[in-house]
Amino acid sequence: MHAPGAAALRVRLSPAGRARWRSRRPTRPGCRWPRRRACCPSRCGTPADSNADADADADADGSLLRTRWVPVEPAPAPAEPVAVLGRQGDLPVDGAVHYPDLDALAAAVADGAAVPQTVLVPVGPEPGEVPSAVRAATGRMLGLVRAWLGEARLSGARLVAVTRTAVVAEPGDGGPDLAGAAVWGLLRSAQSEHPRRFGLLDLDATARVPQGLAAALREDEAQLAVRGERLLAPRLLPMTAAGSVTVDPDPEDQLPDPEGTVLVTGGTGTLGGLLARHLVARGARHLLLAGRRGGQAPVAAELVAELTGLGAQVRVVSCDVADRQSLAGLLREIPAEHPLTTVVHAAGVVDDGLVEALTPERLAAVLRPKADAAWNLHELTAGLGLAEFVLFSSAAGTFGSAGQANYAAANAFLDALAQHRRAQGLPGLSLAWGLWAERSALTGALDAADLARLGREGVRALSTPDALRLFDTPARRSASRS
Ligand SMILES: NC(=O)c1ccc[n+]([C@@H]2O[C@H](COP(=O)([O-])OP(=O)(O)OC[C@H]3O[C@@H](n4cnc5c(N)ncnc54)[C@H](OP(=O)(O)O)[C@@H]3O)[C@@H](O)[C@H]2O)c1
Repeated sequence: MHAPGAAALRVRLSPAGRARWRSRRPTRPGCRWPRRRACCPSRCGTPADSNADADADADADGSLLRTRWVPVEPAPAPAEPVAVLGRQGDLPVDGAVHYPDLDALAAAVADGAAVPQTVLVPVGPEPGEVPSAVRAATGRMLGLVRAWLGEARLSGARLVAVTRTAVVAEPGDGGPDLAGAAVWGLLRSAQSEHPRRFGLLDLDATARVPQGLAAALREDEAQLAVRGERLLAPRLLPMTAAGSVTVDPDPEDQLPDPEGTVLVTGGTGTLGGLLARHLVARGARHLLLAGRRGGQAPVAAELVAELTGLGAQVRVVSCDVADRQSLAGLLREIPAEHPLTTVVHAAGVVDDGLVEALTPERLAAVLRPKADAAWNLHELTAGLGLAEFVLFSSAAGTFGSAGQANYAAANAFLDALAQHRRAQGLPGLSLAWGLWAERSALTGALDAADLARLGREGVRALSTPDALRLFDTPARRSASRS
């Protein structure tokens, strides 16, 4: 590295055969490692020099990553004009020009006002029940994102959504604002599709927008949290190295309670079915597999036969888990002698499209089986003393996959719900899977070009044995309760 004053180096690593990595030329100095190149959880080799060996299979615990927020210093830069959308009292920012909405800002610019480099827009808190609040907050943000991208005069500016406690940036943060968290997911995808056009800033209950914010966001950090005087940015770190996760030394503790019922939503889907087999192999004896098609799902009969042959009692039920009444009915039918002990929420759909093409309907359709259903499961099982509540989320919510703003919003909600539950003393874990190699209805449309693109972005598909091994890691199990 020859640049004077450089503090950090970004190197792009790509797989180069089994346990080998190729490094590409360094880009600008001052960039930070890693953000988009890892999976959570997935197999990620140790950042290494060109051709250095990294046995990605060796360390299951090291392959599970967790988002941590680390202090960052804003890069010194000249003060830039900042505008705020909304009423003055909603988001007081020293020196900012306030406009009631985007139309007013666009009209002012058309009349000759200077184009602000950074435009802040406060988000939430959203009133009402959680699922409708999520739909309202994400729907409103989707409309603003689309309108923002349509304003050619503002094409050099960055729109920054300002949330309050929508992310858990510090241990004392408590449960996050769930609607705000979903907005973060949506905007992460918008950031991927339109680099430098969007920023995310999360304040704690009291923090004001800090001086130098625009400079911080304009450099290399498009997602920041303010806690007290500190500016924090998200990083993915191996769970065992992250400090707070204790590894449970007792392997017996990892086995499902054989008398308890395990509910797998999306249980006749690809991952749901693989997990059901895995849980039965590890001792689960009472499984409830829920999907809208129930026994009509293509693999249902074969799956039931296989699991029954392994000694399990399996019920496949037709239930739309986003429908609260249906789900409540399903839970009521669980026999008292085999009480519900474990929930694995693996139901989900996709409806991919660039953010400009998404509509409130397409957003709601993807939120429904993930977020609405997860909230139903959370509320309806609250008093049951569950041992585990596992949400099958996607790395799309963490990284913000291009073309998946609706899916990223739904998965970011799941991640936040797990934090919300743990803050309430309930078990909760959201596994933000990378791509599984086993094709499913969700991933079957990926063609060779898509896979090659994902590969260039550092995403490798997880084999089923590796994925299930990650599901079993002690770190994963203890994180459900920490
Ligand atoms: N495959 C991957 O690489 C991957 C990566 C990251 C995350 N994930 C997540 O893992 C989960 C499983 O994905 P998959 O790849 O196995 O997809 P899949 O095969 O399509 O399974 C999803 C299942 O969800 C069920 N479902 C959808 N809406 C439902 C609703 N309202 N109520 C009840 N069940 C519903 C579907 O069954 P019905 O149509 O019969 O309802 C389907 O069987 C998803 O949440 C997905 O986001 C998967």
